Amino acid sequence: MARDAAPIPNSIQAMSAEMAEWRQDFHAHPELGYQEHRTASVIAEKLRAFGLDRVETGIGGTGVIGVLHGEGGVPGSEENAIMIRADMDALPMSEETGLAYASQNDGRMHACGHDGHTTMLLGAARHLAETRNFKGTLYFCFQPAEEGGAGARAMIEDGLFERFPCRAVFGLHNWPSLPVGQFAVKAGPMLAGADEFRITIKGRGGHAAKPDKARDPILAGAQLVSAMQSVIARFTDPLQSVVLSITQFHAGSAFNVIPEEAQLAGTVRCFDEATHTNVYDHMQRICDGIAAAYDLEIVLNRGAQKYYPPTLNDTAVSEQVRSVLEEITGEGMLHTDFPPTMGAEDFAFYSRLKPSCFVFTGNGDTASLHNPKYDFNDEVLPHGTAYWARLVETLLPR
Ligand code: NI
Repeated sequence: MARDAAPIPNSIQAMSAEMAEWRQDFHAHPELGYQEHRTASVIAEKLRAFGLDRVETGIGGTGVIGVLHGEGGVPGSEENAIMIRADMDALPMSEETGLAYASQNDGRMHACGHDGHTTMLLGAARHLAETRNFKGTLYFCFQPAEEGGAGARAMIEDGLFERFPCRAVFGLHNWPSLPVGQFAVKAGPMLAGADEFRITIKGRGGHAAKPDKARDPILAGAQLVSAMQSVIARFTDPLQSVVLSITQFHAGSAFNVIPEEAQLAGTVRCFDEATHTNVYDHMQRICDGIAAAYDLEIVLNRGAQKYYPPTLNDTAVSEQVRSVLEEITGEGMLHTDFPPTMGAEDFAFYSRLKPSCFVFTGNGDTASLHNPKYDFNDEVLPHGTAYWARLVETLLPR
């Protein structure tokens, strides 16, 4: 028997046009990680206007937390509190959509839909502040610097969970190519752990006509690029998904000079931290071996500061989310076997510390994330907002 979707509540449906205005305003004013000053102040102003019980700003830089107590108004314990999170930052790229509300900030663009995520969380805040159809405490988390700046970690280090104790954290990301109104959730890995490494090859410069007097970092670098792929092909369990990409190779300035140095950079991505460490152990061995063979020095810098752990959904919490999504989506609209992606997400910092669940919501037939022609689909707004509202009412029942 076909399953019918529970209709989107009228009060959320009625907010759709207004939410699209908020979203397009954020879209026109994109700000990079930790610089989301306008965005954060618009959010705080709206949360206060919606009647939230408390609004705190400046957490982990530009983060904002809205606190809302359910019916009865009595603050709950950690057990009676949950946190729902959106990211606020944009990307350092130029928009090519030609939209009327395109970016007014040169070289900055909401190309990942964080304008939409922020708007849906605001919509949920307004709806839930009006209805208060839940018991306990709800934290709305607006996070800075998801795009490489580890804003989640910055908020946690600024005492997020001590100041706003909760039993679980929830997040979502729009997903181009998945139709609007569809969702994906499953227990276990949703997104990979990822980082950025740098390799410096220090040789000895010299005349191209006298290679024996030099120590050529380019030849060593070329060997290194191809040898690195053996880490995945020969030193990693073939049933594990791992990506090692070398994406930069900088060296030299003249056709007849062997340069002193070559600089390489790249990224490693996989779904568990032990595999990640294993990959680096073998990468180090290859660097040491090639350095010895070519009589030069190779320094591998793992760039641990840039590491995002894998985003792992808690089994019990994901089961609760799945049942909420089953209730609000129709037959065939919920994917519980969606393949995980090798992209990374700093929501992982929450999922390391708290039972948590991250879901994807369809953005329809749009350009892909981080593409200059991408735009968040405003038709998604009521779906995401309804999900947040229903999730809260289910997890914090009156
Ligand atoms: Ni994103």
